[in-house]
Amino acid sequence: MTKAPLLVTCGLPYTNGPCHLGHLRTYVPADCYVRYMRRTGEEVVFVSGSDNHGTPIVVSAEEQGTSPRALSERYHKHFDETFRRIGVNFDYFGMTDDPANHHRTQEIMSRLVKNGYVYKQVVHQAYCPKCKRFLPDRYVEGTCPYCGKQARGDECDQGCGKHLEPGEIKDPVCKVCGTKAEFRDQEHYFFKLSAFKDYLLPFLDQLKGTSNAKNYAIGWIKDELHDWCITRTLEWGVKFPGRNDLVVYVWVDAPIGYIAFTEEWAAKAKKDWKRYWCGENRVTHFIGGDIIYHHCIFWPALLKGAGYGEPYAVVASGMVKVDDHKFSKSRGYVVWTNEDYLDKGLPADYLRYYLLAYTSHTKELNFSWKVFGERINNEVVNILGNFVHRTLFFAHKEYGGVPAGVVDPAITAEIGKCLASVDKQMQEYEFKGAVDTILALAAFGNTYIQTNAPWKLIKTDRAAAAQVIKNGIQIAKALALLIEPVMPGKAQECWAQLGYDDMVAAHRIDEAMGIVPERALKAPAPLFSKLEEKQIAGLDAVLQQRVKEANKKMEKTPMISIDDFSKVEMKTGKVLAAEAIPKSSKLLKLQVDVGGETRQIVSGIAQFYKPEELVGKNVVVLTNLAPAKIFGVESNGMILAAGDAASLLAPEKPVEPGTKIR
Ligand code: MSP
Ligand code: ZN
Repeated sequence: MTKAPLLVTCGLPYTNGPCHLGHLRTYVPADCYVRYMRRTGEEVVFVSGSDNHGTPIVVSAEEQGTSPRALSERYHKHFDETFRRIGVNFDYFGMTDDPANHHRTQEIMSRLVKNGYVYKQVVHQAYCPKCKRFLPDRYVEGTCPYCGKQARGDECDQGCGKHLEPGEIKDPVCKVCGTKAEFRDQEHYFFKLSAFKDYLLPFLDQLKGTSNAKNYAIGWIKDELHDWCITRTLEWGVKFPGRNDLVVYVWVDAPIGYIAFTEEWAAKAKKDWKRYWCGENRVTHFIGGDIIYHHCIFWPALLKGAGYGEPYAVVASGMVKVDDHKFSKSRGYVVWTNEDYLDKGLPADYLRYYLLAYTSHTKELNFSWKVFGERINNEVVNILGNFVHRTLFFAHKEYGGVPAGVVDPAITAEIGKCLASVDKQMQEYEFKGAVDTILALAAFGNTYIQTNAPWKLIKTDRAAAAQVIKNGIQIAKALALLIEPVMPGKAQECWAQLGYDDMVAAHRIDEAMGIVPERALKAPAPLFSKLEEKQIAGLDAVLQQRVKEANKKMEKTPMISIDDFSKVEMKTGKVLAAEAIPKSSKLLKLQVDVGGETRQIVSGIAQFYKPEELVGKNVVVLTNLAPAKIFGVESNGMILAAGDAASLLAPEKPVEPGTKIR
């Protein structure tokens, strides 16, 4: 029996912000897997697209004074270009707002309705009396009914992470105008997810992919499954069949995008999309750990209810953190793929390597620039790069290229062992294990060259040294073939250095066993260069600065009442005398008339004002500040000044010293 064709998809990026490192943990491993599988001779189709619907995109568009469509097109193009730059090559990258997806979504919805899996129910929807509209999902913020933390309308994002149904959120407030929302009754459509419990258990039991996806989903399913409200009162989205006033919930039309994009690809490639989705299939979804529920519970039930085939595998990555903090744009814990990395001229292949080799695919990835630099220098440069370069350099220098002869069986056996181990791990989505195994072959090569020391051997036995190099070159060929799914650009350079003039990606992995014939080679250039400590420190400084600025923005000054303010006493004053304080570059000692009383005040304005220019100036003084000794000098009050350059405040019209500020 021939295997069903393999279709690989990636979680669709929302079109309301640029690509970051968190996104890449879905796309880079998926791309690596697709490249590898193709090079074992598999037929693979690789599709994704951008997720254009849902309230966050409508809210962002509104904030930016543009339309959701224009915003989506902008970010769609951005993601498409970024994926090319990082070497993630989709066969098709569509948009969920494409006509094909509107069509497929309505077709699937109609089937669900016909099959009895959709029912109408009145819900208490948050409604803003000021904006005069219903507030779906992100239009409303409030308190999570489960854990009491601040939450969004559809998700407890700061607390327990639970999905919230319309009407569930407590104390809702309109996100647009800040008005306290009220609840109003509105009729919506629900999907009978609860009817799929008996179907889902055995389905999950045989689901392929990573164990985290399967196990989380099985755990959740043992709790109660609640039905999902699948319509929203919005303009932007896919219309619910027969209802012009309602669109379907974004999590309905987004995964259906996987099908629509396959259709769009198939139309271009003149293939039959049904072969990939209906009946026996190998639909493999790559996603991040945050959307397992959607892909392992909601989506299979939707497909089943509509009479479509079910997914074959769900491969879920662990989440990406930054400097041990949860990814957060608002808190500054984010690394942008373009701005922070590619635009700085850093190689795409280094980032691909790091994302794949850092840790097991299902584990959390804690990004830090320091570790990034160390891993690249210690592994990619010192092990892989060093081995390939020393081997090819010696071959070129002493023999003008690849010497004649055969490869030692011990070497071929080592390569064969490596191929088998990489294959097993790639098939099991153990990307780190696979990369480590490839690096171990390079380390083996280094040890082999080191112990056999051809530079010594050549002085006594030229043929024996040639044999050592012949073996080394065979290992280098295997490495070029094996590392291509991980670092396609560098693998190609290595392939060319070995004297091949075609694409390494066009060759099967098992060609690693085929001998490199005797031939002339050009002088090789080093494949990799080290990341300098200074460069890494610079990259890290950008991140630290972003976190600092975000913190500043988040630190909201608390509100005070007029009673609080009345505790503050401020009066106008006139500077009578001013002198420097010995040994202090910042402080001045002032005598200030605050109305029938002279106050001695120490003020940190020496960098901005000379003592003599202060005498006679009108100022504003905080007069009921508790006295303090500053630099050993008694200070009774504080002069008010604005900004970093300490611009002194003064009354705009003349007033007597001692006039109260109110
Ligand atoms: N639009 C949804 C997916 C719909 S799929 C039918 C979405 N978009 S996203 O832009 O937030 O994320 C796109 C992909 O990146 C998803 O696979 C998501 O899991 C992944 N990641 C986004 N941030 C992530 C981390 N910080 N860490 C790991 N992966 C995460 O979700
Ligand atoms: Zn919660």
